[in-house]
Amino acid sequence: MKCNIVCIPGDGIGPEIVTQAKNVLETVGRVFGHTFEMQDVLMGGASIDAYGEPLTDETIEIAKAADAVLMGSIGGNTATSPWYKLPPQKRPEAGLLRIRKALNLFANLRPAVLYEELAEACPLKAEVRGGGFDIMIMRELTGGLYFGKRETVTENGKRKAIDTLTYSEDEIRRIAIKGFEIARKRKGKVTSVDKANVLDSSRLWRSVVEEVAKSYPDVTLEHMLVDNCAMQLVRDPKQFDVILTENMFGDILSDEASMVTGSIGMLASASLNDTKFGLYEPSHGSAPDIAGKDIANPIATILSASMMLRYTFDLDKEADAIEQAVHDVLKAGYRTADIMSEGFNQIGCKEIGRLICEKIRS
Ligand code: IPM
Ligand code: MG
Repeated sequence: MKCNIVCIPGDGIGPEIVTQAKNVLETVGRVFGHTFEMQDVLMGGASIDAYGEPLTDETIEIAKAADAVLMGSIGGNTATSPWYKLPPQKRPEAGLLRIRKALNLFANLRPAVLYEELAEACPLKAEVRGGGFDIMIMRELTGGLYFGKRETVTENGKRKAIDTLTYSEDEIRRIAIKGFEIARKRKGKVTSVDKANVLDSSRLWRSVVEEVAKSYPDVTLEHMLVDNCAMQLVRDPKQFDVILTENMFGDILSDEASMVTGSIGMLASASLNDTKFGLYEPSHGSAPDIAGKDIANPIATILSASMMLRYTFDLDKEADAIEQAVHDVLKAGYRTADIMSEGFNQIGCKEIGRLICEKIRS
């Protein structure tokens, strides 16, 4: 198979972790007989430095013409980087939001899995984590508060900021359908998370999700308020299968869920539209403080590449091989700094990438 992939290394640790994911893809290509054509483009701070804007129209066109996009991370230190002196729509994150919208990537899948090998990195007590957990966070990605009208005005000499949270029933319906479809292939449970005791957008969310649920009688639906969900994730994460939620709640809960698994450095994500196209990126940020030191964990990006093989290219066997290689390397006792605990062997970004490639070849 020939696959046309656009890579966005991005900022901070982005280039290091994407390099390792590209090596893994090349290895899979050689072992299984596929050609992964990979072309790098700039986004975020790197694009600001080169073109004066975080995402150019040309980059959007290149991404649209590809089969899939593999991304590292974008952004810098918000306190010190000159990128954050620019107007908000010129900052690195604006590029990410814009590409999600331009490619209509409304469904963001963020799996939070507790790896057996990493049980000791999980901050929860043994009796809480039990035999591990496997949660799929399905986050709506192109609506809500992050895409509403926003402004800062001055009234009677005082500044006032306004952000708008809007959801249409169509936006809710299409993500809910994705959530139920995924749940059907997993344990068959959807927890829809909202703040329906306060927000109108959440009340509409709840009622549309209930309408969609009628077509999935084999899937159990429960509703949970977002504040309760934040608590339940650390109290009893095993209760969850698919968490279906709106943009901002999903942003926050997915970071929390990732920490519960031991490290945000392990969590992949896929952002999908209603075709096979997808943008794949780790759930974590660009960690500018550790950039260039060869200590970042590339596993989330490598697992994002594996999600790409599964969801965009239907290459399940190849995706399994990547995931198995990650497990094997962890089982063999190798750890990057973020998942290190006593008695294990601490190695860097390049070395863990190399070991994963070696396992795929063996
Ligand atoms: C994420 C990030 C982004 C988001 C930021 C960088 C805009 O936090 O992918 O979770 O909030 O979506
Ligand atoms: Mg986030």
